[in-house]
Amino acid sequence: EFPITIRSLSEAIGRPAKTLMTMMFQRGEPLTINASLDEETAIELSMECGVDLEVRHERDIELELVEKLTGGDGDVEGETIRPTIVTILGHVDHGKTTLLDALRSANVADGEAGGITQHIAAYQVEHEGQKITFVDTPGHAAFGEMRARGANVTDIVVLVVAADDGVMPQTKEAISHAKAAGVPIIVAMNKIDLQGVDEQRVLQELSTNNVLPAEWGGDYEVIRTSATTRQGLDELLHTIVLTAELHEYKGNPNVPAHGVCLEAFRDEGRGVLAWLIVQQGTLRIGDDVLCGPAYGRIRAMYDDHGNELEEAPPSTPIKVSGLDVVPGAGDHFFAMADIDEAREAAESRRQRGRAESLAGRGLPRTLEDILNQ
Ligand code: GTP
Ligand code: MG
Repeated sequence: EFPITIRSLSEAIGRPAKTLMTMMFQRGEPLTINASLDEETAIELSMECGVDLEVRHERDIELELVEKLTGGDGDVEGETIRPTIVTILGHVDHGKTTLLDALRSANVADGEAGGITQHIAAYQVEHEGQKITFVDTPGHAAFGEMRARGANVTDIVVLVVAADDGVMPQTKEAISHAKAAGVPIIVAMNKIDLQGVDEQRVLQELSTNNVLPAEWGGDYEVIRTSATTRQGLDELLHTIVLTAELHEYKGNPNVPAHGVCLEAFRDEGRGVLAWLIVQQGTLRIGDDVLCGPAYGRIRAMYDDHGNELEEAPPSTPIKVSGLDVVPGAGDHFFAMADIDEAREAAESRRQRGRAESLAGRGLPRTLEDILNQ
């Protein structure tokens, strides 16, 4: 697929062609949208945008192999409707985590509702018979890359905008990530319980940022919510279910498992714990996986309630143990053929990472760094 035009790369990684052209311009190489990039440059640009093209490439090779083995031409046997993945994006303190907790506690059994103490990156809830997987993201300015990646693994973005604060810098950033990823946006105008909020002003700000509310003739539903009084939660869930029904998100439990790491840390005693979201395939205990620079055999797997699992089909958020080092948020994971293959891939990545960090000291690493230059 190389050389690749700026237009095709932009489509492949879900970033505006204009951004890529700006990046090339800043490298002193102004190019048109139809100009070709060599493989190395394309990979570098993608990395700067937070997309690991090599990983995509490895995944494509795996998927191609699976397609050959199953004799399918594009349609691998066993594709089924999977739970919708919804990522919550928005400015810091606008109420993303509180809203998610409220959505979840509406859903869990009574005995459990009070017991949510630990921070969890992803939840699964059921509404109107449909499972929805929610992914939380931080709103702090420093985590732009996590938001970009969040927007890239998701089917739908719920954009949380606090009614008393309106559209703020990370709201705008979230809008551009969601639009670059080409996913539908549902707006939750949150904290609607506060005295003296000016709804019209928020709608106006959304409009000027290319999110024209449905009530003003646009494409975007704006649901009034309060995580505190629980106003609008059902309506928000219902709107998500309707959007999901329109798109029919499919997954295939029969291909090699792959997905994304949402966050990971080292736990005294249990070693590395990673929150993963399975996008395709089924991840099982005993699978050998590669995840960013980490590899290992899945030793234990838990769902968002802390229950032990044997296997996780598409769209399942899980916590796993068994990786050797802590992977990064946004790193992709793959089930590999065996542990040797996983180890070799991880080791070559670590070497490449060292070489890159030596060569690239001081170079911008994220899209945000580049835009802020
Ligand atoms: P970051 O993860 O740091 O980006 O913040 P966040 O968007 O997750 O916000 P968080 O849920 O932590 O809430 C921030 C503050 O707003 C907390 O003090 C919440 O109690 C409060 N809050 C959240 N939702 C509502 C709401 O609907 N109404 C009111 N009155 N307060 C809310
Ligand atoms: Mg939060």
